[in-house]
Amino acid sequence: MAQNKVTLSAFAKRKRANEKIIMLTSYDAPTAAIAAAAGIDVLLVGDSVGMAQLGYANTIPVTMEDMLHHTKAVRRGAPDSFVVFDMPFMSYQASDEEALRNAGRALKETGADAVKLEGGAEVAPLINKLVRAGIPVMAHLGLLPQHVQAVGGYKITGRGDDAARLIQDALKIQDAGAFAVVLECMIDSVAAEITSKLDIPTIGIGSGTACDGQVQVVTDILGIGSFTPKHAKRFARIGELMQQAMKSYADEVRNGTFPGAENTFTK
Ligand code: KIV
Repeated sequence: MAQNKVTLSAFAKRKRANEKIIMLTSYDAPTAAIAAAAGIDVLLVGDSVGMAQLGYANTIPVTMEDMLHHTKAVRRGAPDSFVVFDMPFMSYQASDEEALRNAGRALKETGADAVKLEGGAEVAPLINKLVRAGIPVMAHLGLLPQHVQAVGGYKITGRGDDAARLIQDALKIQDAGAFAVVLECMIDSVAAEITSKLDIPTIGIGSGTACDGQVQVVTDILGIGSFTPKHAKRFARIGELMQQAMKSYADEVRNGTFPGAENTFTK
């Protein structure tokens, strides 16, 4: 089990104590178990599952059923971790009623501790309804991957007039009852200002060191996949190790050294 397990009330305490919150995406049971054993505080079952695991170009095609399936696996792998369910595109935008039903399913069917959804002032009333219904909400500001088609790509946020709007958005989602907020690909000075103005913790990805915590996509930090975004660092080259291991397996089957006597059942 993770040291100093994070509970909902611990988020604000961590901020006050100036203790960083470490969040990492996770999509399957074995990786979730390894992350928990490594002391990762929060497992985010991100809709990044679309690119990291399902072979999509972006998060738009990810469905509620995909998210339910992967979050159940993460919960089985890490029964004691704080797990966040990322609400996929169009699971909360059409109506508040549908959002409430889908967020309710997320908690009831997967055992997740909270949901995450993207947006600023425009989603504040919805955040408030979810929180009043008993559903903890992590907000997400800055670069919003679910808006990639509307915005025309992945753009750094917080430049020029955008800064004032983001600060207002952050205050509104805090007032609405969010317990934490992800700041994605935001100019570091704006993320720092938001972090200093809020009582709830900010969890940054590509938003500088001032944030109260950091989140990364697990496949990016493990070096699985060919592309590493600027905000990520490869802490290992697991993709290369996997390829080497698979090649060794294929070579040994071809040259007859695997399976060996130790892998064989005899009378
Ligand atoms: O889906 C995801 O992985 C995310 C993180 C980038 C914060 O939302």
